[in-house]
Amino acid sequence: MSDDVQNRLAELWPPFGLVVTAGPLELRPIRDVDIPDVAELAAAGIHPPEQMPFSVPWTDVPAAELGRACALYYWRTRADLTPARWELQFVVRHDGELVGVQGISAIDFPVTRSTESGSWLGQRHQGRGIGTLMRQTVCAFAFDHLGAAEVTSGAWSDNPASLAVSRKVGYVANGSRRLERRGRLATMHDLVLRPDRFVRPPHPLTVHGLDGVRRLLGLDG
Ligand SMILES: CC(C)(COP(=O)(O)OP(=O)(O)OC[C@H]1O[C@@H](n2cnc3c(N)ncnc32)[C@H](O)[C@@H]1OP(=O)(O)O)[C@@H](O)C(=O)NCCC(=O)NCCS
Repeated sequence: MSDDVQNRLAELWPPFGLVVTAGPLELRPIRDVDIPDVAELAAAGIHPPEQMPFSVPWTDVPAAELGRACALYYWRTRADLTPARWELQFVVRHDGELVGVQGISAIDFPVTRSTESGSWLGQRHQGRGIGTLMRQTVCAFAFDHLGAAEVTSGAWSDNPASLAVSRKVGYVANGSRRLERRGRLATMHDLVLRPDRFVRPPHPLTVHGLDGVRRLLGLDG
């Protein structure tokens, strides 16, 4: 797709023009040109098959169907976006390499100022500090550029990496829930981050294309 077409699409759909950078990281809402690479990264493996880190077990679909399932999900989040209920899924690049996806979502955000974070990295990119950096980056974006009052997260009790990232970024415990996962009982730990405890990213954020996104989310007149 030419740059001209991408720019005109960004005028129609402002998230396509949003770019958040922090040091080696770049986050931008997933565009169609990103979807094949995101799908390939997911299909190469996010977690061992015997584990399920996600609350919605979307990686349980057969590998051959995962790419289409990802594409449908990203298209649906665009089509369903309203100020009352939205989700932004950012493709994450580290030193220019596509490494994973960082999402934030919200319900009634103009009133609640509460947003939920969720993320994944391709297995070969895990354990190098990127998960911490991308969470810090999206939280700084939510607090400083969207006006969030809190960012929530949730992790199963057997997901030490996600729990460690939350702890390092400053989230605190916000209760736990007994839920069904793959037919069995599992414990979901809820976490919440408020600005006073936020451990900021080591790099300042640069944000392009914010104005149209804020209008789309009902944050400006
Ligand atoms: C969760 C995830 C995003 C974290 O990203 P990451 O880049 O791997 O995490 P980081 O390297 O920034 O930090 C991981 C921390 O977890 C810790 N950790 C990892 N595995 C651990 C284990 N088995 N026990 C204890 N701590 C562990 C690491 O020591 C590190 O903490 P430290 O820096 O204090 O040593 C990534 O691992 C991932 O994509 N996992 C699969 C999908 C997933 O779980 N998504 C979240 C769903 S809620």
